Amino acid sequence: MRYSQTFIPTVKEVPADAECLSHKLMVRAGLIRRVASGTYTYLPLGWRSLLKIIAIVREEMNRAGALEIMVPSMQPKELWDKTGRSADYGPTMFCVQDRHGRMNVLGPTAEEVFTTLVAGEVKSYKQLPINLYQISPKFRDEFRPRFGPVRSREFIMKDAYSFDETMEGLHKSYTAMYDAYCRAFKRCGLEYVIVEAESGEMGGSGSHQFTVPCESGEDTIVFTEDGSYAANLERAAVDPLARQAAERKIPAPEEVHTPNIGSIDAVCEFLKTQPKDMIKTLIYTTYTGKDEEKEIGEYMALHHGQVPLVGKGHHVAYYAVLVRGDHEVNEEKLVEALGGEHVGLCDRERMIELMTGAKVGFAGPVNLKIAITLVIDHSVAAMAAGIAGANKTDYHIKNVVPGRDFPLEGDNIVVADIRHAAEGDTYKGKKLLFKKGIEVGQVFKLGTKYSVKLGAKFLDEQGAERPCLMGCYGIGINRILASAIELGNDQNGIIWPISIAPYEVLVTCVNQDDKAVAGAAENIYRQLLDAGVEVLYDDRDLRGGPKFKDADLLGIPVRVTVGQKSLADGSVELKLRRESQSRKITVDQAASKTIELVNFLKEELSA
Ligand SMILES: Nc1ncnc2c1ncn2[C@@H]1O[C@H](COP(=O)(O)OP(=O)(O)O)[C@@H](O)[C@H]1O
Ligand SMILES: [Mg+2]
Repeated sequence: MRYSQTFIPTVKEVPADAECLSHKLMVRAGLIRRVASGTYTYLPLGWRSLLKIIAIVREEMNRAGALEIMVPSMQPKELWDKTGRSADYGPTMFCVQDRHGRMNVLGPTAEEVFTTLVAGEVKSYKQLPINLYQISPKFRDEFRPRFGPVRSREFIMKDAYSFDETMEGLHKSYTAMYDAYCRAFKRCGLEYVIVEAESGEMGGSGSHQFTVPCESGEDTIVFTEDGSYAANLERAAVDPLARQAAERKIPAPEEVHTPNIGSIDAVCEFLKTQPKDMIKTLIYTTYTGKDEEKEIGEYMALHHGQVPLVGKGHHVAYYAVLVRGDHEVNEEKLVEALGGEHVGLCDRERMIELMTGAKVGFAGPVNLKIAITLVIDHSVAAMAAGIAGANKTDYHIKNVVPGRDFPLEGDNIVVADIRHAAEGDTYKGKKLLFKKGIEVGQVFKLGTKYSVKLGAKFLDEQGAERPCLMGCYGIGINRILASAIELGNDQNGIIWPISIAPYEVLVTCVNQDDKAVAGAAENIYRQLLDAGVEVLYDDRDLRGGPKFKDADLLGIPVRVTVGQKSLADGSVELKLRRESQSRKITVDQAASKTIELVNFLKEELSA
C-alpha cells in the first residue's frame, strides 16, 4: 500500500479523554477515532490489526475443533428473562423496543441464544460434544467506559459455548479452549498470566482469566512470588489472621461522642486511632434494584419491626457486614459466604436508619435495633478490640471485643473470608503480591446453569434425559490490540508484534524527488509485494524527518530506508522498530534480507 493513497491521520495532540498509553497511541497513530462515549471507529490501520487478531483467534478456535456460526446481536429480551440475566446485567444491557412494542436486547454475550439453539437441535448424546462460537460485536452500557477500546460500550468478542455429556467431557472441552487461548495470545505477541477466577469446587464451575500485566489495567492480579498461586482480586483468598492478644484487660464498651464524624478516616483523626483498629459495618440486602421489593421491605420493617424480614430465605434479607476499617468488602466472597444469595449494598438511608436507629455512618454490631444477620470477616473476629459505630447518631463505641460484645457464633452469625486481599496478606503462608492487568480472555465451566433453564437436554446411552454440561469462553479482540500496545511502545510510538502489526514492513523513501532513490524504493516495494509481504511504502512528498517520526509512531516492525547517501554506495538501511541500530545491506539483497527478517520475527511468535 502506498502511504500517499491510504488514510492514516496521525496527530500530535491527544484528546483529553485518552487516559492510558494505548488509547493515546491509537489516536495519535491514526488507528481509531472516537464516535461517542465508549464507541470507536477503527481506521484502516486499526482495522487491519483487528482483522489479524481475529484471524489468529479464528485459526486457533478451528484448530481446537470449535465451529464458527453467527447469531444476531439483537435478541428477544424474553430469552434473557428466562435465565434471570436481564436482571443480573441490569442497566449494563442495552434494550431496544421494536415497532410492535417488543423488547430486544443488544447482546452483551450470547449464552441464551446458543443454548436455545442447541436445545432445539441436539437430541442425543451422539450429537455431543459440540463447541460453537462466533466473533461479533457485543454491547455493554458500561457504567464507566474507559481507556478507549479496553472498556468500551461496543466491542468485538469471540465467544464460544461448549456442550458436553459428562463432567470429563466438559473438562476436556475446557482444557481445549484453555490451550487454544494460550496459543492465540502467544501468537499475538502478548505476555500474559492465567489466574484463577472462581473456585473449581462446586458442580461444574471453575474459571480462569487470561490477564496481560500492565500499568493501566483495571484488574488486579494477586499472586505469590513462587507462582504457586495466582487469582484475580475478586477471588484471591487470604489466610485468616491470628487472634490478637489483648495487651491489657479491655474495659467495658464505652460510647464516645463523634459529632458529624462518620467516615473511617474522619473518626480515626478525631479519636487518634488507625483504620485497622476500627470495625466498619455495612448494611447489605438481597434486593438490588427492584423498587417494588424495596417498598415491601420498608413496609415490613416499619410495621413488623423485625425478624420476619431479616433472615436468609426471606422475601427480603438484610445483613450487617463487618470488615476492619482498613479493609474492603469483597462482594463475590460475601455472596459465596451467604451460600450464593445475591446481595448488594443497601442504598436506602431510611432502611439503614430503621435498622440501626442512627443516621448512616454510625452502624455497628452492638445494639442494632433490628437483629439482622452479622457477617463477620475473619480479621474482625481476630481483633482484640475495636471501635465501631454505636447505632446512635453522632456516637461511636470503643473497647468493642468480638465474641464478648457481639457474638462470633450462633444463629444468624457468619464468620468468613469476605474481604479483598491487601498488602501484607498471605495465602497458605506465602506473601501475596499485587499487579495491575487487562483481562483479555476468560474461560468458564458453567455446568448446567443455562441448559436446565433453557431446556438443552439430550438422551444418554441408556435413554435417560440429561441436561448438557456447558462451558463458555470469551476473548476481547479489541483488548488484545490495546494490550499489545500497552506492552510494545517507547516514547516515540508503538512497537508492534509482527503477527498483528497493520503492515509487516515499511519502506521509506527519503528523497522522493530523486529519481534514482524513488526508483530503488519502488523496486524494493514491488519485490516485497510480489513475495506476499505486507508492505507500506512511504512515497509521500515529505522530508525524511516527518517520515521517520511517523515511522516510529506507527511502529511497523521491519523498516527499509532508501536514501541518497547510502544508495550512493549501493546500499539501503534495514532496521527493526524495536532496535536502535540499523544495518546496511546492498540494494540487490534488500528484498531477500527483509523477507528473512520478517520470517525470523514471525517464527519468534509461532505457538
Ligand atoms: N467493555 C468491554 N470493552 C472491551 N472488551 C470487553 C468489555 N467487556 C468485556 N470485554 C472482553 O470480553 C471478554 C469476555 O467478557 P466477560 O468475561 O463476559 O466480561 P467481564 O469480565 O467484563 O464480565 C473479557 O475477557 C474482555 O476481554
Ligand atoms: Mg471476564
